[in-house]
Amino acid sequence: MATLSATSLTHLLGEWRGTGPALRALADRIRLLLLDGRITSGTRLPAERELAAALGVSRTTVAAAYARLRESGHLTSVRGSGSVAALPAASVPRPAGPRAPVEIDLTRAALPGAPEVLDAARRAAADLPAHLPGVGYDLVGLPALRSAIADRYTGRGLPTRPEEVLVTLGAQHAVGLLCRTLTVPGDRVLVESPGYPHALDAVRGAGGRPVAVPVVAASAARPGGWDADALEEAFSAARPAVAYLMPGFHNPTGAVMPAAQRRRLVELARRHGTRLVVDETTNDLGIDAATPPPFPADVVHVGSAAKTMWGGLRIGWLRADAATVRHLAAHRSPWELGTPVLDQLVVAEVLPRLDEVLVARRAELRARRDALLDELAGRLPEWELPVVPGGLALWVHLGAALSSPLALAARRHGVHVSAGPRFGVDGAFERYLRLPFGADPDTLREAARRLARAWGEVRSEVPLAPSFEVLV
Ligand SMILES: Cc1ncc(COP(=O)(O)O)c(C=O)c1O
Repeated sequence: MATLSATSLTHLLGEWRGTGPALRALADRIRLLLLDGRITSGTRLPAERELAAALGVSRTTVAAAYARLRESGHLTSVRGSGSVAALPAASVPRPAGPRAPVEIDLTRAALPGAPEVLDAARRAAADLPAHLPGVGYDLVGLPALRSAIADRYTGRGLPTRPEEVLVTLGAQHAVGLLCRTLTVPGDRVLVESPGYPHALDAVRGAGGRPVAVPVVAASAARPGGWDADALEEAFSAARPAVAYLMPGFHNPTGAVMPAAQRRRLVELARRHGTRLVVDETTNDLGIDAATPPPFPADVVHVGSAAKTMWGGLRIGWLRADAATVRHLAAHRSPWELGTPVLDQLVVAEVLPRLDEVLVARRAELRARRDALLDELAGRLPEWELPVVPGGLALWVHLGAALSSPLALAARRHGVHVSAGPRFGVDGAFERYLRLPFGADPDTLREAARRLARAWGEVRSEVPLAPSFEVLV
């Protein structure tokens, strides 16, 4: 059972105190950490006395906070194991169904399925009989899909053979497989901060030690992007085994890495013997900017059907040299036994026509992004809204370190958002909030109205500190 020390929990809690009773603030903040995944269900929390000492509060306060969490089902007492964090069934976000839920879930940066998926699924089902005589366990990918993916890289200017493509269970699976296979516990792995939280989970899950490079969202006040000096420093000081970056419409900032910096990144990785992995999951989601080109052939590319076609198709892939692809395929079996054939057939149907699909996707993203920006600008003028050329989310600067209290207050208004610290390597970003714009414009406008009400509540509790720049 995973155990969280009092020091680690104190670090995760950050500035947890509000103006209300300490026991309530502490319970609320632990609940948020659990709901947004920073504490995983089943983790043993520190003993009351240790946590009280680390936080500088009385043991009664911690005991009362734990009691509150027990009442709400977020903590269970296990004989011999102390207090164990738990996720009550009701707090798992419900998947969007045919009946529109009253709650608005802005924790996921994704669009609904593209209409083309339905026809493709019908054609894929018609193709299935050709595959049924086989056993269906597929560790590398169907030849037709590997070819279609290879053709797309070749069309983008990176000549690719099907043997250089491995089809996976989504991009997240590809990232996890790369981390487990290309690193050994204790290796340093360069990551972005803020970054995609599940990639960071994958790095840590493989025993890697993250080395963070800051990324800033562009705004009217400043250009965004990767901190060039920090990038140089991270390579030369840490000599990471793997560097994982999202250079095209980075999640959550929407930043796009300029061509000169991409070249420098490749040079640095080559010089320091680092395996460079670029995650292109959101690369095709340019709204005001074109799809960035591929990297050279020695860079591992990760891709996915989840954002362009549908997240319900659990299909992703990676492009690497053929020997690495074989090596990775050989290491899949301890965790899973292959990619579903039917889903692969669907993606193979859509992929050759992806550019047509993307025209509609980009128009959809533009309308959604602009609706959210417009409503936020009208209702929350003190927030610094980013300039987002593409991707699926706004990384909003709140002007005050209130992201976690805001996320909690927003839940009371029926809006689920992930607080900024979920996207940092070390729990920073309490001044930021990620707002995905994958929902329809009316829902996003309603979410912004509710967020404004929630913000009014948290602002009335804590006075605004003067805004200053934080680079973490
Ligand atoms: C950068 C990045 N990588 C990977 C993923 C996961 O992709 P998939 O659904 O294909 O596993 C996401 C999803 O949000 C993402 O933003």
